[in-house]
Amino acid sequence: MRVLLIGSGGREHALAWALAGSPICDKLFCAPGNSGIAEEAECVELAPSDLLGIVQFAKREAIDFVVVGPEAPLVTGLVDLLEAEGIPAFGPSAKAARLEGSKGFAKDLCAKYDIPTAPYRRFSYADAARDYVRILGAPIVVKADGLAAGKGVTVAMTVEEACAAIDAALLERRFGAAGAELVIEQHLEGEEVSLLALVDGAHVLPLASAQDHKRVGDGDTGANTGGMGAYSPAPCLTPALEAEAIERILRPAVAAMAQEGAPFKGVLYAGLILTKDGPKLIEFNVRFGDPECQALLPRLKSDLLPALLAARSGDLKDFNLRWDTRASVCVVMAAKGYPGEPLRGGEIKGLAAAARDPLVKIFHAGTRRDGDRLLADGGRVLDIVALGDTIREAQHRAYYAIGAIDWPDGFCRSDIGWRAVGR
Ligand code: AMP
Ligand code: GLY
Repeated sequence: MRVLLIGSGGREHALAWALAGSPICDKLFCAPGNSGIAEEAECVELAPSDLLGIVQFAKREAIDFVVVGPEAPLVTGLVDLLEAEGIPAFGPSAKAARLEGSKGFAKDLCAKYDIPTAPYRRFSYADAARDYVRILGAPIVVKADGLAAGKGVTVAMTVEEACAAIDAALLERRFGAAGAELVIEQHLEGEEVSLLALVDGAHVLPLASAQDHKRVGDGDTGANTGGMGAYSPAPCLTPALEAEAIERILRPAVAAMAQEGAPFKGVLYAGLILTKDGPKLIEFNVRFGDPECQALLPRLKSDLLPALLAARSGDLKDFNLRWDTRASVCVVMAAKGYPGEPLRGGEIKGLAAAARDPLVKIFHAGTRRDGDRLLADGGRVLDIVALGDTIREAQHRAYYAIGAIDWPDGFCRSDIGWRAVGR
């Protein structure tokens, strides 16, 4: 098969690595890819937002299957366009991608189909939004309705903070059209965990559990980021809680989307909070998590490509995935300044030494080559993933590998996996 992967981050490097390893993948392209992905795939200079360019390329190169990594092209309808041209593609239609593209849509679906989530209301006017915040009190969560590059959520500890977030979105238009409408919801208490599943329109095939570390600082403190590390499995998601989340959240959401005339195909990612009343949904994403994907795929023993094909063709019913019983830990190395403006262009050395351990895999999230030199080119730059018999062992192995990396402009958290270690 000739496969085209869309995207350029660490998630896509992990996907490229898994797809390139498939016996049924004869040729892999990636648009636009990065310098790590270039070791697995032929990179093509096409932006994920260039939907027509991607369709033309897929036709010209006789692509048999397109795998879409990031959410933005899904929300704008890349899969619809490809399928309309007869090119099979993995990922939801634009209508189904509203689960991530509009938080209000996702919340209304939960309300209509009795899917457990925080009580909420939707607002377009600041006065009404402020009144609601004053009535509910803090802590409270203010969310831009649309895609805001992971920056649209404010967990406000005070009413003033919530009102400032409302004004920034509705009056100052900080998130542009994505923030022209808000969802304001009750703050939920509990541990956060990600549950991802492959979905074929009707059937749900859960992946192994994973937990992400969203805050920039050790101990889960400081600013929110795209994710500073992840590990799998997540021991806090016990088999009973996982079953509850599948039965009460994932399956009902998939059935609801079919009922609404927008059957969901692709990866459905439920961000959950394990409250004292059971798992509750905080958000849906319609693609693999980043960096959860990098922690998950090295544990996947089955071939990924047939599973993605089965999700696209509606054949997941009897599909099984085999997982390595070992745990994985993925530590993100980011450029200083992240999640604000990152330092770009610093040289990275020592990757070959760091990757010498066969149980360590390094994915590139934001690098570029300049001749023989490897340079940092983004906020999140490298993902160091290690396997181990326990999360602690995987953690030690990942940090040992990081010790060999020479990149003065980079930093990482020193405690990825801490919530699981010692359980
Ligand atoms: P998001 O940008 O949608 O991934 O949300 C960012 C973070 O906000 C999540 O990872 C949670 O930590 C937090 N969050 C979102 N909604 C809630 C909620 N209702 N209660 C508590 N925390 C939340
Ligand atoms: N790791 C969180 C996300 O992919 O949205």
